Amino acid sequence: MRLQDKVAIITGAGSGQGKASALMFAQQGATVIVAEMNEQAGKETVKQITDAGQHAFFYQTDISDEENVRQLVETVHEKYKKIDILFNNAGIGFSARSKYKMASVLETPLEDWNSILGINLNGVYLMSKYVLPIMIKQNKGSIIHNASLNGIIGVSGADAYTASKGGVVALTRVMAADYGKHNIRINCICPGAINTPMISEVLDDPEIAKNYETGPLGRVGEPEEIASAALFLASDEASYITGLIMPVDGGWSAV
Ligand SMILES: NC(=O)c1ccc[n+]([C@@H]2O[C@H](COP(=O)([O-])OP(=O)(O)OC[C@H]3O[C@@H](n4cnc5c(N)ncnc54)[C@H](O)[C@@H]3O)[C@@H](O)[C@H]2O)c1
Repeated sequence: MRLQDKVAIITGAGSGQGKASALMFAQQGATVIVAEMNEQAGKETVKQITDAGQHAFFYQTDISDEENVRQLVETVHEKYKKIDILFNNAGIGFSARSKYKMASVLETPLEDWNSILGINLNGVYLMSKYVLPIMIKQNKGSIIHNASLNGIIGVSGADAYTASKGGVVALTRVMAADYGKHNIRINCICPGAINTPMISEVLDDPEIAKNYETGPLGRVGEPEEIASAALFLASDEASYITGLIMPVDGGWSAV
């Protein structure tokens, strides 16, 4: 019970890493607010948690919409009187299903650039902007951002995605500097290739998939392996850790 009685908001908790984190946080005693754009997926996560006798609550959220984010945070604060943990996980990225083009600068329409940054970077800013005042009043909080390996190394293509994740990495450091005095810890996970719907179509193609099965551990990661890192950073076990940019990538960035 590493998160006993904690209240945690997890964005994008209807799928992949966010869902794995929601299930794990709830198992560890947290009440989890599933802040997810996809209603069906978000409600399914909540059902799995409550069916197991644990606590969760769905709030349909588009993290790129300021009014929506403001209402989410107000509702959670009114209901639970505190917010201990914010996992800024939701994002859009590599997927054949994505309506946004993942390409280099020359092939990226401005509209797609703005949409990708609007979710992956502005969404993190907006969620933080509305949760921080509550954590400042509590004089305690843990915020975890989910960036990407693309935020720390240059991978060809997906330039808007890469820029958005680089922005999240930089934002982690400056937020840690700004809010440490309020006992708020801000850390960032940089996943490598993780087996979630975001990249499932890529992994389904054996020719492309083998490009992802490189690095010291020679395999892609599972969403639970990100959830474990998020759980540690969220918990009081990480009480002296802030401003950390943590690759969880099977060693991909080390070689
Ligand atoms: N899967 C990977 O290989 C990988 C690698 C590095 C980083 N990441 C990052 O990890 C995070 C989680 O991705 P995942 O792999 O679990 O993908 P996923 O597609 O399985 O899950 C993402 C979830 O976010 C939700 N979402 C998207 N836009 C939203 C919005 N505007 N508001 C609220 N919710 C929204 C989606 O509905 C979905 O449920 C993302 O930020 C992604 O960029 C993924």
